[in-house]
Amino acid sequence: MSIQAMSDNQVPKHIAIIMDGNGRWAQQRNKKRTTGHKAGVERAREAIETAAKMQVESLTLFAFSSENWNRPKEEVSYLMELFIVALNREINALNKNNVRLKFLGNTKVFNSKLQQSIEQAEQLTAANTGLKLNIAANYGGRWDIVNSVNQWLIDSERMDTIDETTLSQYLSTNCLPDLDLLIRTGGEKRISNFLIWQAAYAELYFCDTLWPDFDANSLIEAINDYATRQRRFGKTGEQVSDK
Ligand code: FPP
Repeated sequence: MSIQAMSDNQVPKHIAIIMDGNGRWAQQRNKKRTTGHKAGVERAREAIETAAKMQVESLTLFAFSSENWNRPKEEVSYLMELFIVALNREINALNKNNVRLKFLGNTKVFNSKLQQSIEQAEQLTAANTGLKLNIAANYGGRWDIVNSVNQWLIDSERMDTIDETTLSQYLSTNCLPDLDLLIRTGGEKRISNFLIWQAAYAELYFCDTLWPDFDANSLIEAINDYATRQRRFGKTGEQVSDK
């Protein structure tokens, strides 16, 4: 199915991507793992452009998990520098294209240069009304839930019990549509502590393509696959009318 032929509800409102396989992509070329991350940023750029073109409302990219601190020190430092460079290089183009950029995760532990770039980028694009682009950095799904409950405890002064709707409003993804499609590249079939609450009813798409090879057509293929799925949300197939 072409992009044009898709009706509104066939295009997921919210896509999240676990961009896996940078290291293996580089190793296959006898290059350092960091070369894979550099190539990965270009693919992230392409995914953002494609999502905007397809009028996806929200795109969430898993750039750095709370567990990624366990990687070799040089790789972590390289990634931090790469985030700063990429952010500073792309922010004006993102802003010009009406993209609203937000970071999900505990960014307070990043170095001050990166924190500053994040803050400036978020402020600059805060009023934009196009694609909601979220970069999950130092993000973990369990952290998100615990953080949400803690924030709620502060606000409610512990007088109340929490329900699903309230908890959702405290998660880092509040104001975003429900997650429709979760993509993981690189051959592994797991969620790895990414958006674990939000993925409750998401369609999952796993592919073997390593992230630096995941181009615009690969994303369109994933969206086309999504368009063939019947989403039931616990109902029977008969109860759910065709999309
Ligand atoms: C996974 O590959 C990728 C990461 C740990 C995150 C880094 C992602 C990028 C640099 C691309 C996008 C960046 C931005 C700023 C949006 P891996 O190292 O786990 O690969 P492997 O499984 O082959 O070792």
